[in-house]
Amino acid sequence: MAIMSKGRVLATGGTGYIGSHAVVELIKAGYEVEIIDNLYNSKAAVLGKIAELTGVGPKFYNVDMCDKPALMEVFARGNYDAVIHFAGLKAVGESVEQPLRYYATNVGGTLNLLDCMRAYGVKKIVFSSSATVYGVQETPKCEETMSTGSGISNPYGKTKFVIEEILKDAATADPGMEVSILRYFNPIGAHPSGLLGEDPNDRPNNLMPIVMKVATGEIDKLTVYGNDYPTPDGTCIRDYIHVVDLVKGHLAALEKMRPGAQIYNLGTGQGSSVMEIINEFSRVGGIQLPYEIGARRAGDLASLYADPMLAERELGWKAELSVANAMRDTLTFLRKEGLKLRV
Ligand code: UD1
Repeated sequence: MAIMSKGRVLATGGTGYIGSHAVVELIKAGYEVEIIDNLYNSKAAVLGKIAELTGVGPKFYNVDMCDKPALMEVFARGNYDAVIHFAGLKAVGESVEQPLRYYATNVGGTLNLLDCMRAYGVKKIVFSSSATVYGVQETPKCEETMSTGSGISNPYGKTKFVIEEILKDAATADPGMEVSILRYFNPIGAHPSGLLGEDPNDRPNNLMPIVMKVATGEIDKLTVYGNDYPTPDGTCIRDYIHVVDLVKGHLAALEKMRPGAQIYNLGTGQGSSVMEIINEFSRVGGIQLPYEIGARRAGDLASLYADPMLAERELGWKAELSVANAMRDTLTFLRKEGLKLRV
């Protein structure tokens, strides 16, 4: 007997780190998923891994979000019920050097997507936003009701803020639109099978992918960006969330879509310091991670973590996995990739 589909979903950026994990969970939950990605920061081999994990090879379009005619063609065939929009550029430093490229890809790509959705009557969109939209705040614990946009130090972060505003305006103008804006804190970890994980094509900027490259010896040592912050061990505190928990938040959001724009933090509510991350990775992996204490990085805040209660109340979702789980799954991913780890 054929299994009833829960709906047809287009995942932009579906071969990327978060997108690929989401596609797996969506398929497992009974959605029919199609993927658009230009493979700029991901690999086509991910498609085979998704098929291996789910038994389903999702239809894949190698399309750039800036190529509106190609995007329209995808929609012409797709008959989608909803879009989950992961695609975008995310390197903070690069966004400072190439702001127009970031605005064109992230903001322009989203505008193209919204035009296609309007042309083909697709009303539901889940958007990958970021805690970066909170900018500089007086308290480290972020609630969705707090103001956004003030003190965002880089164009990448500003694109996320601008896209949120566009989506809210679009939902106001069209009462049939259902928008869910998900503000990610710091996603880490990998699929427990070790088949999917974070594998950036470029030199990474974020803590965990750098930890991974130090663990494999590709990078000599980690530089801790400052240990003189007003935190217990002097290093910055962030809210690290397992990628599998994070993508389950998307499923919960999709099931609870309603007219208007809803905004949810996806975080654990617990902070970990840079030193705690280093120590936990070393402990779980049984390896020594070489590091040095360096200068502060411009734009870093001492402490930032989520108030995740709104998502728990309205979506019935909360993070369940620990940082240790994320480290274990990251190590499984590295080993499965055939990478040799330091001892
Ligand atoms: C960064 C971006 C944020 C973006 C997010 C996801 C900045 C200021 N913020 O968040 O806008 O949404 O990535 O892409 O860039 N660290 C080290 N050594 C390293 C790398 C990082 O000590 O080599 C520290 C950082 O100082 C920070 C923590 O690790 O305290 C996490 O850094 P990172 O993974 O870059 O995330 P965020 O800074 O939270």
